[in-house]
Amino acid sequence: MSGFISFINIITGIMFILAIRGLSSPQTARQGNLIGIFGMIIAIITTLFSQQVNDKVYPLIITLFGGGVGIYIALKTKMTSLPQTIAIFNGLGGLSAVFIALASIISGSTSYLDNSIGIIIGGIAFSGSMIAFAKLQGIISSQITKFNHQHLLNLILTFCILSLLFIFIISHNPIIFYILGISTIILGILLVLPIGGADMPVIISILNSYSGWAAVGIGFSLNNVLLIIVGSIVGASGSILSYIMVKSMNRSLLNVITGGLSDFDRLQSNEAETKIAKPANARDAAFIMENANKIIIVPGYGMAVAQAQYVLKEMAEILQNKYHVEVKYAIHPVAGRMPGHMNVLLAEANVPYEDVFTLDDINREFITTDVAYVIGANDITNPLAKTDISSPIYGMPVLDVEKSKTIFFVKRSLANGYSGIENPLFFAENTLMLYGDAKQITEQIVTNLEND
Ligand code: TAP
Repeated sequence: MSGFISFINIITGIMFILAIRGLSSPQTARQGNLIGIFGMIIAIITTLFSQQVNDKVYPLIITLFGGGVGIYIALKTKMTSLPQTIAIFNGLGGLSAVFIALASIISGSTSYLDNSIGIIIGGIAFSGSMIAFAKLQGIISSQITKFNHQHLLNLILTFCILSLLFIFIISHNPIIFYILGISTIILGILLVLPIGGADMPVIISILNSYSGWAAVGIGFSLNNVLLIIVGSIVGASGSILSYIMVKSMNRSLLNVITGGLSDFDRLQSNEAETKIAKPANARDAAFIMENANKIIIVPGYGMAVAQAQYVLKEMAEILQNKYHVEVKYAIHPVAGRMPGHMNVLLAEANVPYEDVFTLDDINREFITTDVAYVIGANDITNPLAKTDISSPIYGMPVLDVEKSKTIFFVKRSLANGYSGIENPLFFAENTLMLYGDAKQITEQIVTNLEND
């Protein structure tokens, strides 16, 4: 029986690898997701029937209940709220590692190191994710939260945790283990609390990776091969994703984690009051766009909120077919609120993949572009990232929309983006503001384009 279970575990592990591979492209994402779901069902059934699980009924009820809650949340969650949903699920992964490690030590396990690794990483993943969730959900401020000596405090706490780990492994005293758990939970809170909104995607990805490594620790303590395989996949893919994101924002991991060090004070400058942004309407926009040769559409978070992707595609098609304008879409790596957010929405609206370009591929084209149609995007076009060394987004690559002849910003106001920084492009010579909801404005442009 155990040989058969090992065989199934390897098959399940392969399915999870195929799932991750599938998720790496919008064309294969659904298929990857299905493989992952199927692999997880097999993994649950195999675990239930393994010798390690004596009472089958109780775990089955709990699994069905948890699965039901998961399906309900997945169906209810809007795509714009996915990051906080991911944060809370990461946190639950970390919390289960904490509970399993506690149960294991209480029931007399001698895997002191494995359980300690599980509780340390799981504890940080749990409390850090809860803070990330609260920030993304707007329960607490998403701004950089600074307090005196925060880095020194974190350093002292880390030292205490390592000392407690050492003492526990030598003494095997469960009280030390409980204190270790509480300390890691406090460290998780302190680590994520100072980090600003602009860096949240990276933090979510790091915490995701932590929850995977916590599962590996627990997998070793329970001698559960599948947990080790799945934990390694989550841990490694989360680490790779964090690296890719940090690289695409041109930051270092240390710089993100110590984000609270930034001395940047929000640009609530008085200058803004004297600057003037030029408003335009859908009629003006339609006229300029139908007479253009080349247009680049830059979607952002606001497009997702307004669900404007369908009408956006309609607008692009009219421009292409009726007015013979070359239309391309430019996707910034952190546009929206999660990696691939814009790609998924555009794919949902059946925008052809060949019209969609990454930042690296399209940035040099803005100089030969007549119109940049920036719809519900802000930070990802902010040129301060290139010029203002004190800005929290300094160094992050941005789309060079200012090089186009005309920029349209479709948004409801002059409000700042997620990072809380004012965008000087709103006041640029070649910018026209289209104030309003992204979907409504684009619908009005479509009506004008159809009638012209
Ligand atoms: P943001 O900089 O947040 O700008 C989005 C803009 O959309 C806002 O300024 C808002 O302005 C506008 N907006 C909101 N609802 C709208 C609606 N219904 N119609 C029209 N406009 C609307 O977004 P971005 O340019 O996509 O940049 C992404 C930001 O989020 C970056 O700072 C990034 O670091 C951060 N972030 C990214 C991720 C990932 S992985 N993608 C995850 C978390 C955070 P008004 O209020 O004036 O309308």
